[in-house]
Amino acid sequence: MYSRIIGTGSYLPKKIVTNKDLEKFVDTNDEWIVSRSGIKQRHMAGDDEVTSDLAQKAAQEAIEQAGLNNSEIDLIIVATTTPDMVFPSTACIVQSKLKIPSCPAFDVQAVCSGFVYALNIADLFIKSGQAKNVLIVGAEIYSRILDWTDRTTCVLFGDGAGAVVLSRSDSPGILKTSIHADGALHKHLCVPGWVRGGEVVGSPMVQMDGGIVFKFAVKVFEETALELLNDSGKTVEDLDWFIPHQANIRIMESTAKKLKLPLEKLIATVDHHGNTSAASIPLAFDEAVRDGRLKKGDLMLLAGVGGGFTWGGALLEF
Ligand code: UT7
Repeated sequence: MYSRIIGTGSYLPKKIVTNKDLEKFVDTNDEWIVSRSGIKQRHMAGDDEVTSDLAQKAAQEAIEQAGLNNSEIDLIIVATTTPDMVFPSTACIVQSKLKIPSCPAFDVQAVCSGFVYALNIADLFIKSGQAKNVLIVGAEIYSRILDWTDRTTCVLFGDGAGAVVLSRSDSPGILKTSIHADGALHKHLCVPGWVRGGEVVGSPMVQMDGGIVFKFAVKVFEETALELLNDSGKTVEDLDWFIPHQANIRIMESTAKKLKLPLEKLIATVDHHGNTSAASIPLAFDEAVRDGRLKKGDLMLLAGVGGGFTWGGALLEF
């Protein structure tokens, strides 16, 4: 028994903030942001939008593309670092907004690796016979946890949501998934604040040692790719597409170079939505499905890395 992605969807908030817009209130410039990260613009949620709103829109598109009714979803996993509330989970709120009848629903907190963690979990649920149609959503509103006076972080992130429906199938499908974490590195990328007695203690804003994260990301993207390919008896040459977490074009291109993967096989969308954390892989996936690049039967590698540090990936046939 396999699990296969049978539908994808995405949603980006209407408001676009360009690098030129940022120049007006951040000590930065378009040339620096583009040359260091490849990012040209990001989307920003409206004051009246919460993460579950973004998730709902992406999810509804994915369910429709899958040709399913909402009532046929039997597990909901939302990967997010920016939930609507402390509790309940954003997945439960999405369930209510989509009017999906009683089924398990929970959030996964693995920061920018959240989507590949959720895919790994959903694959196991399907292979164990506990679920048939799983809705997986990566959704984030990072604009609310950015310190807009910290130019080393605020220019890099954006808001958005991406979703897939993963379903039971007789043919592949997901060939292999892998997830990892090294909590010893948690201080290098974190939002170190928490709530105590109605007050936020510590900083509720993103803090990042960019250089350390950059080097770590290139290292584990390569390791994850080789682990998944070797375990599946495949080679880099067999790959049709590489869809990594969209944080920085230089990280993606350095990884492709190390793997000797032609850049034409790299799906990169970071230029127009920035780093959307757990949403970035399904956003890029959906864009490439809708513009016709991803075809049925294509072999693709997904890879994520983020706070924790966490990392992992999936090798799959579309
Ligand atoms: O999603 C999870 C993972 N996150 C990532 O993957 C991010 C990983 N890291 C990166 O993408 C890169 O390290 C950054 C884009 C964050 C930074 O690029 P860099 O090439 O490592 O630049 P840097 O941090 O070494 O900074 C170079 C210079 C510094 O000035 P000095 O000290 O050389 O005078 C910074 O102060 O650039 C300066 N700088 C800026 N200048 C204009 C830092 N941020 C900015 C800015 N605008 N926004």
